[in-house]
Amino acid sequence: MVKVNLGGCGSFVKDADYKVYVGKALEALEVLESGSGAGNDFLGWKHLPSETPESLIAECEAVRDCWKAKGVDLVVVIGIGGSYLGARCAIEALSHNFAKQLRRPSTGSGAVDAPEVVFAGNNLSEEYLAELMDLVAERNAATVVISKSGTTTEPAVAFRVVKEHLEKTYADASERIVAITDARKGALKTLATQEGYKTFVVPDNVGGRYSVLTPVGLLPIVLAGFDVRAMLAGAKEMEAACAEKSEANPAVMYAAMRNLLYSELGKKVEILVSYNPKLQYLGEWWKQLYGESEGKDLKGIFPASVNFTTDLHSMGQFIQEGERIMFETVVNVEKSNRSVVIGSDPQNLDQLNYLAGSHVEHCNAMAQLGTKLAHIDGGVPQLEVSVENLSEFNLGGLFQFFEYACGISAYVLGINPFNQPGVEAYKKNMFALLEKPGYEEMTKAIKERL
Ligand code: PA5
Repeated sequence: MVKVNLGGCGSFVKDADYKVYVGKALEALEVLESGSGAGNDFLGWKHLPSETPESLIAECEAVRDCWKAKGVDLVVVIGIGGSYLGARCAIEALSHNFAKQLRRPSTGSGAVDAPEVVFAGNNLSEEYLAELMDLVAERNAATVVISKSGTTTEPAVAFRVVKEHLEKTYADASERIVAITDARKGALKTLATQEGYKTFVVPDNVGGRYSVLTPVGLLPIVLAGFDVRAMLAGAKEMEAACAEKSEANPAVMYAAMRNLLYSELGKKVEILVSYNPKLQYLGEWWKQLYGESEGKDLKGIFPASVNFTTDLHSMGQFIQEGERIMFETVVNVEKSNRSVVIGSDPQNLDQLNYLAGSHVEHCNAMAQLGTKLAHIDGGVPQLEVSVENLSEFNLGGLFQFFEYACGISAYVLGINPFNQPGVEAYKKNMFALLEKPGYEEMTKAIKERL
């Protein structure tokens, strides 16, 4: 269960103002639930946890088993934005920190013989792709290419390179490629049909950044050896909790407070904080979700993320004493899945004997508490989003919670949370500069500008 604690905002806001924003958030929830708001043809994500059929999970597992039978030990997951960040977030959060060195994917339920999952198509760096291919060439490889539109440049370029290698290397290349794309249209759909690739569908009514619980996230997570049934169960719990028309609804609480801080106190930056390096990609996933959903019409809270205590030694100074424009949302993981106790040293040169017998996580918790108090003293309100530990169940809960809260929050702000018109601007310029057929006039105009 995901819990929200707003205690760290108490000294900044008046109860009466918070109540006003809770009222706005409950109205926004009503709009979301009734499907009467902007972008209402993209609400399919709301019921993915309760409506995902067992047969879809079985299909994902069939791919896993088929590739296992072929001895596949490397899966390249190709995609960008919403077609990549959710899977990467889940896999990094659940994997052993040193999985690559140990060849062991999980601290929890993951299968020890799962293939290594690597990501491509999320940048246009030639060096990245060349080095990825060094790895692919050494391993028994397969690929999952994910693109809802089927036409995004970054994944298309990476897929062309990976596909060429697979076709040259393996007689069964088409069985080593799975495409996740639109049910009917797009270049990837056409190619998959032509070549007979196994395909999964990105539902029409689910946008990229809300798609982690569709095959877009589920297949890579299954391939990495993790339990998506538990993930969907955790998400299902939050599907129910976040739909409740109640002031205690955690998504309502979070959406209300962040809008109050933004609109009444001028807090224009929200920093998502975690105290576990495995959650770095939760920050990346969350930034896309909130940035692409809310940053429109010259409005929106700028989403940033940090990993403490690491970044207390870099960003900590600014957060404590720089321009007072931000608030923090701490993803609080209550218990560590692993245990390391600090020993006693007869010399005590480092003067740490006062901690002898303590768990490292106790130090982390005290750092978290000390930072909270310091940042509140420094004028930084703090929201807390807590889960008991890092697990598939709780990660599923966090996905559903943040998606619900994002929809509510954007509606409070008067924004359509489900489109991303601004993303097209760079693409048009890039196509013009690359002299893509059909962009001739733009190419001419942009060259004159340069
Ligand atoms: O959230 C979104 O819709 C975007 O970030 C897309 O996921 C991203 O641009 C990739 O698009 P596609 O899946 O069509 O390749």
